[in-house]
Amino acid sequence: MQSRLVVLVSGAGTNLQALLDACGDESYGARVVAVGADRDGCVAFDRARGGGIPTFTHRIKDFSERTHWDRALTESCRAFQPDLVISAGFMKLVGPAFLAAFGGRFINSHPALLPSFPGMHGVRDALQYGVKVAGCTIFLVDAGVDEGPVIAQQCVPVRDDDDEASLHERIKVAERALLTATVGRMVREGWSVHGRKVRFGR
Ligand code: GRF
Repeated sequence: MQSRLVVLVSGAGTNLQALLDACGDESYGARVVAVGADRDGCVAFDRARGGGIPTFTHRIKDFSERTHWDRALTESCRAFQPDLVISAGFMKLVGPAFLAAFGGRFINSHPALLPSFPGMHGVRDALQYGVKVAGCTIFLVDAGVDEGPVIAQQCVPVRDDDDEASLHERIKVAERALLTATVGRMVREGWSVHGRKVRFGR
């Protein structure tokens, strides 16, 4: 039985592509059943459509209140009956309706080693701080900003001549591998949460 993944995106969608590629192998244990976005014109949508995968878009500016946007996003995801929802470069914080529906099975990928450098500019902030290792974190989303329980992390070196773009590219290589490996383990092995600790296995 293949687990059903809904992936949320805002941009290039290279993490989505990595998931699509992983799902091409039946033994991976999952398939992407829908891709959602918060804006028009995401390159990620071309990747989804190339794979014949349905897409949906909800732009916050089209709603009178953010809670209405949150409900619309929730209902669109729910319609595809996901086992796991994955924020892969989705640049919006979801609200209470979404977390009530998908809390505990909604994961995000962040391009920094949390709890250091949460927020929109994790790569830039890490570089400015002068860290010697950077990396990425896959975590279960809760109501905080990049604060939920950590599922997996991977570090990468920071080079003296790095700028934000070069460091982010190195992180994204690690991030794609970590995201696909982590999602694969979650769908095949299950997971449980003990306080802040996430363990694979049922
Ligand atoms: C990733 O590094 C993600 O962690 C960050 O934005 C990037 C998205 O990349 N929030 P892509 O759209 O998957 O290529």
